Amino acid sequence: MKQVTIQNKTFGLFISAQEIDESIKVIADRINKRFQDSHPIFISVLNGAFMFTSDLLKKVDIPCELSFVKLASYEGTTSSGAVKELVGLKEDITNRHVIILEDIVDTGLTISAVIAQLKTKNPATITIATLLLKPDCLKEKIHIDHIAFSIPDKFVVGYGLDLDGYGRNLSDIYQLI
Ligand code: XMP
Ligand code: MG
Repeated sequence: MKQVTIQNKTFGLFISAQEIDESIKVIADRINKRFQDSHPIFISVLNGAFMFTSDLLKKVDIPCELSFVKLASYEGTTSSGAVKELVGLKEDITNRHVIILEDIVDTGLTISAVIAQLKTKNPATITIATLLLKPDCLKEKIHIDHIAFSIPDKFVVGYGLDLDGYGRNLSDIYQLI
């Protein structure tokens, strides 16, 4: 099996670049049909979603916009501690059809925070497309419209996903072994 070592940890090939490409094509086709006349705005959550975003958008052939956001941690004043604030969105999304692009939904806490903050800006609709979902880890009740792959609860790297900042450049997805 093809293996890579990142930060002294060994990962085995899990999803090939070709499988990723095929799955992304299916999602792009569905988006092209569904949003043909509605000029959606894609909102990509950096850093992890950069490669998914790039490959998906090359297959999207309808009029659309693309924006990138990041979740910035800061110490909140609430007892719950760290609060994550969505930064980087300059576009007015009022009454727009928003499509969020994520690398991975694990517990769902991150995507829930993104959805909650975007909802305050009154978009017409919010659609979620994620490259990966770990269904066994979900703690939040979220409807995810497009999932390229549902995967078991094992740490993965590659294709935008990282271990301590490394491995994002890999064109396949690898699983910790
Ligand atoms: P939650 O639990 O909020 O997690 O849904 C989403 C964020 O956690 C990171 N994450 C991973 N990153 N391999 C990674 O490289 C993984 O297997 C993994 N699981 C969770 C990721 O930053 C994601 O946005
Ligand atoms: Mg992420």
